[in-house]
Amino acid sequence: MRKPIVIALSAGLVLALGAGAAGCAAPSGSPKASDTPPHAPALMPASHEGRFAELGAQGCYGCHGSSERADPLLASAPKMPADHYLGGAVDSREIDPVRTQCDTCHGQE
Ligand code: HEC
Ligand code: HEC
Repeated sequence: MRKPIVIALSAGLVLALGAGAAGCAAPSGSPKASDTPPHAPALMPASHEGRFAELGAQGCYGCHGSSERADPLLASAPKMPADHYLGGAVDSREIDPVRTQCDTCHGQE
């Protein structure tokens, strides 16, 4: 007596799950792309002309970097975000190796 009922129930469940999955498939793909709008790196201002060639990444660090006592080192310079540091940690006081070519991302204005 019980068996047919169980079969009927599970068939209904499969149908319901199938419909749910199909319903979710379309919306799940599209919102993701707009979650992460492209965040363009700032250009170096005109005052920086030739600076990278002359000073290299450590030169940039000398103003935009940090020490135990100052972040940024030069108060009027915007500070480097944490993700520019080794391991994403400002207190590493070291530039992440993938960030050392500053001028590949920060073009000259
Ligand atoms: C002598 C100090 C000094 C050095 C060295 C220096 N900067 Fe700057 N930087 C500043 C200051 C101050 C500002 C903000 C004022 C301005 O616009 O000039 C600035 C602005 C910037 C900006 C614009 C940020 C924004 O939000 O608009 C970028 C990008 C930048 N610097 C990158 C670099 C890079 C890359 C280097 C190495 C080649 C470097 N800087 C070397 C002092 C310095
Ligand atoms: C791989 C690309 C890339 C490299 C290489 C890179 N940056 Fe950036 N930088 C970015 C992006 C993207 C942002 C904006 C991130 C944010 O706002 O969180 C940024 C933000 C900054 C800011 C903050 C600017 C502001 O407006 O507040 C400074 C200062 C800076 N970078 C300096 C440097 C210096 C100095 C170097 C080299 C040591 C460097 N960057 C290397 C991509 C890069």
